[in-house]
Amino acid sequence: MTDSRQADDPGAAALAAMHHAYAPYSHFRVGAALRAIDGSVVTGCNVENASFPAGTCAERGALAAAVARGHRAFDLLVVATEATDPTPPCGMCRQALAEFAPSLQVVAITTGGRRADWVLSDLLPQPFTPASLSHT
Ligand code: THU
Repeated sequence: MTDSRQADDPGAAALAAMHHAYAPYSHFRVGAALRAIDGSVVTGCNVENASFPAGTCAERGALAAAVARGHRAFDLLVVATEATDPTPPCGMCRQALAEFAPSLQVVAITTGGRRADWVLSDLLPQPFTPASLSHT
C-alpha cells in the first residue's frame, strides 16, 4: 500500500502494517514501512508459513512491494513490533536492503513507545554488493 497519509507518518504506516502480520507460529508481529526518495511509503509485514523457512520478513516484504512499484532508492525504514525493546532488521533483510540503500536510516519502534535509530551501514558494515560479483 502507498498513499500520501503513509508518507506523512511512516511510523504509523509501519504500525498499521504490523497489525496485518501473519505470525501464527512465532506470534512475533512485525510491520515495516520503507520510504522511497520521492517520499512515497510502501509497507510490508511478516508472513509465516507452516513450512517455516517459507516465511518472509516484514522488511523484505516492503522492499519487494516497493521495487514492484518502480522504486529503487530509499532513505528511511521504520520497523514496528510489540517487543519490549526495539528490534533491528535481521541479517538477511540487512543484506537485501543494502543492495538498494546502503546508507538507509533505520528506525525501530514498539507499541510501548520505545524507539531506536541506526544507519544500515553500521548494522551491516561489509555487505556483499553488486561490485562484489565482479571480483572473480
Ligand atoms: N521477522 C521480521 O519480520 N523481521 C525481522 O527483521 C526479524 C524477524 C519475523 C520473521 C518471523 O516471522 C518472526 O519475525 C520471528 O522471527
